[in-house]
Amino acid sequence: TDTNEIKKGLAGVTVDYTAVSKVNPETNSLLYRGYPVQELAATQSFEEVAYLLWNGELPTPEQLAAQTADGKPHRPLAPEVKAAIDALPLDSHPMDEVRTAVSVIGAIDLAGDGSVLDAVGTVEENRARSLHLFAALPAIVAYGQRRRHGLDAVEPREDLGYAANFLWMTFGEEPDEIVVDAFNRSMILYAEHSFNASTFTARVITSTLSDLYSAVVGAIGALKGPLHGGANEAVLHIFEEIGDAENVEDWLDRALAEKRKIMGFGHRVYKRGDSRVPTMKAALDELVQYYDRPDVAALYDALENDFVSRKGIYPNLDYPSGPAYNLIGFDTLTFTPLFVAARVVGWTAHIMEQMASNALIRPLSAYNGPDERHVEGYVANT
Ligand code: CMC
Repeated sequence: TDTNEIKKGLAGVTVDYTAVSKVNPETNSLLYRGYPVQELAATQSFEEVAYLLWNGELPTPEQLAAQTADGKPHRPLAPEVKAAIDALPLDSHPMDEVRTAVSVIGAIDLAGDGSVLDAVGTVEENRARSLHLFAALPAIVAYGQRRRHGLDAVEPREDLGYAANFLWMTFGEEPDEIVVDAFNRSMILYAEHSFNASTFTARVITSTLSDLYSAVVGAIGALKGPLHGGANEAVLHIFEEIGDAENVEDWLDRALAEKRKIMGFGHRVYKRGDSRVPTMKAALDELVQYYDRPDVAALYDALENDFVSRKGIYPNLDYPSGPAYNLIGFDTLTFTPLFVAARVVGWTAHIMEQMASNALIRPLSAYNGPDERHVEGYVANT
């Protein structure tokens, strides 16, 4: 093997085509099926964007109504899923709960399908499976937070859209429009981002002709890490450590001396700022006003200004979304599961794209272990 060909972390490697989204760090833009994400966030509901990512076009009212009707049976927390979550310790990480819940849904849905050869499913079955997970995840995430507070699950409300119903099932109260709107925008911004680590994981699993649920379970595992989706949770831990805007300078001196990574900053692809941040920052600003928490905005700005001026490394989407979810009332540990509920749309769009033009993903490695040697006493059987 030519070791010059090694691309550690696959940095800069183009693996395949995708028609789902386009990330352009030069123009700092992100397109879903051709549409700029900020335009979608300003005008569409998350369920409309899900339709777009799966089908390639925005839905007509009839198409949207059909999608909503098909998802409806999956909105309540299924008893088997609730039982599986309840079997886990109350202090398990919510990402482990969500991963387990998706695994349970897959095992039940695929039961009776026969051998591994049959599990991969048809195009129609995989569309239905994608919609199933999309519709079921809010109840799973909401219940995870509620049970930690000793509360029961809340039944979904059919008169509410995706974002409002998600908040309803989490908090048991009908949220104000401004909160629904900010939350809806965050879901749209998180929905898809080309060949990121979790999406690539899902595509690798799919490439073996495994099933969609297995691919999503693997993707959830990849998303949990703090270098990826876990960063939105990690941002809040940092905010809690710092406490107040006036502590930022001292805290940053220490953190950088200890060579810590500052969570919510930096990106493998964007080096001059994340295209999604301005839209999410505007949503955070509205929440800051609504909840009257100028202290949050002050800490946010102080850390951003100080870190950017020292390092020239810009915030990513997790930086504004973490404090936004905190203001809305989500537990810090619930933030990354929210990312799952949104990104499941992108994952499943990519899984279906991978299935449609599959090639087994199986790269090479350059061996750097011991030279060939032999087990003592072994006699070749000639
Ligand atoms: N804090 C401190 N230093 C940083 C950071 C950061 N957040 N990000 C990059 N750097 C430094 C890094 O130490 C390295 O410095 P040097 O060349 O002196 O060793 C240089 O910048 C290049 O960084 P890298 O880690 O080699 O770059 P990468 O492309 O592998 O990293 C990243 C991308 C996201 C893993 C990294 O920026 C990071 O760890 N950020 C913090 C975690 C985070 O916010 N993740 C969310 C990513 S975006 C949304 C998502 O997927 O959820």
